[in-house]
Amino acid sequence: MDKVGIGLLGYGTVGSGVGTLLARNADDITLATGKQVYLRRVLERSPDFTAPGLDPALVTARFEDILEDPGIDIVVELIGGVGAARDFQLRALKAGKNVVTANKQLLAQHGAELFDAAESTNVHLRFEASAVGAVPVIKVLRESLVAAEVKTVFGIVNGTTNYMLSAMAETGADYDDVLAEAQRLGYAEADPTEDVGGKDAAAKMAILSSIAFHSRTGLDDVEYEGITKVTAADIAQGTRLGLVAKLLGVAKLIDGRMNVRVYPAFLPRAHPLAGVSGAYNAVFLESDAFDRIMLFGPGAGSVPTASAVIGDIISVVNTVKGSFVQNCLCYKDVPAFPDADMVSSFYLRLRVKDEPGVLAGIAALFGEHDVSIASLVQEGRGDAAELVLLLHPVREAQFFAALDQIKALPAVQGDPAVIRVEGDA
Ligand SMILES: NC(=O)c1ccc[n+]([C@@H]2O[C@H](COP(=O)([O-])OP(=O)(O)OC[C@H]3O[C@@H](n4cnc5c(N)ncnc54)[C@H](OP(=O)(O)O)[C@@H]3O)[C@@H](O)[C@H]2O)c1
Repeated sequence: MDKVGIGLLGYGTVGSGVGTLLARNADDITLATGKQVYLRRVLERSPDFTAPGLDPALVTARFEDILEDPGIDIVVELIGGVGAARDFQLRALKAGKNVVTANKQLLAQHGAELFDAAESTNVHLRFEASAVGAVPVIKVLRESLVAAEVKTVFGIVNGTTNYMLSAMAETGADYDDVLAEAQRLGYAEADPTEDVGGKDAAAKMAILSSIAFHSRTGLDDVEYEGITKVTAADIAQGTRLGLVAKLLGVAKLIDGRMNVRVYPAFLPRAHPLAGVSGAYNAVFLESDAFDRIMLFGPGAGSVPTASAVIGDIISVVNTVKGSFVQNCLCYKDVPAFPDADMVSSFYLRLRVKDEPGVLAGIAALFGEHDVSIASLVQEGRGDAAELVLLLHPVREAQFFAALDQIKALPAVQGDPAVIRVEGDA
């Protein structure tokens, strides 16, 4: 029987999951592929690296032992980062080896170069686990829905922030306390910047929009904002208004142009994404062809992510070289749709002095910019008064122009809290 050797780069959280699944499911993989797919070499920093269940004889610290081994058909890159990982992937692809990876930042920052390398030697570069972990969204977009003209990809693509926002809503705790708890429970990394700042979600949205709209989207094309400014006070106000806070990735194709962003947003409690809590992820796909599809599941974790990696390995083994769907399908060049022209609804919380004429001044400025108010609640008195407004959908440029003038009013204190509202509030 044919054998397919795997060269695994990195035996950490996901890499060890791949090792475990390859061993545990060897018989099923053989049945699914007709080939014996086996772990042939593992790259770690030290040749003395050990891990439970890993044969120490497979470990090397020299990438060349993998690159130059003719028995290795597929290189699985799971070291992460954009330095050595980029070098190893490029060298493997140029040497004619298929590559499977979960590295979202590398693909979002250097995708074009990597896909060119894959094309030059006619090998696969597969990356299902790079966006939304175990959930097979990339395969669905690039194969099942390749000609369905997907117009919107919209969802919760970061489990850490989803866990934190869920915990803030459930406990009333503030951001810092919830972050500390998430770190203690292993839902947030020691350095949580990429997750809480939105960069992790932005990289995933760059990958998803590239596949959905067939047009190269890099991390630099995605405007992103994380959850660091979301306060317990805003979440509590949202709860009173029937709204749930989520960090959303939103990619839209509008009149032949695309807009891809990540921002915290309120969703009506009845929206299907509002019920996605804890470390789970979910992605909505919208198209005139099928209306809506929602994909839901674990976005991270050792074995869940590894199962997506194994799925890619099986796809490589089962797909004839040179087939149309082997790589990234970015065969269009869709121009950007500017943020300023996007139409959004907003939640706005302002601290104001409770004095005559304040409301009229704010309403007049909104009126001048054609921003219409859906609801307004005033709370407190004196210097501690707060206004909570929900605004009807409006061109973002108009809203922010009005907001700049409102912030300059003498009666308005501090920085207002602004959160977009998605769905039919
Ligand atoms: N964890 C998840 O749930 C998850 C989900 C989706 C996608 N991903 C992606 O999967 C990839 C791997 O993530 P992970 O969580 O498994 O990371 P990890 O636990 O840190 O594992 C990476 C492993 O690779 C080793 N390594 C790093 N640089 C190396 C180098 N230059 N040469 C040899 N070995 C090296 C590390 O060794 P040291 O510890 O000595 O540095 C570590 O054992 C990342 O791209 C990540 O974004 C992860």
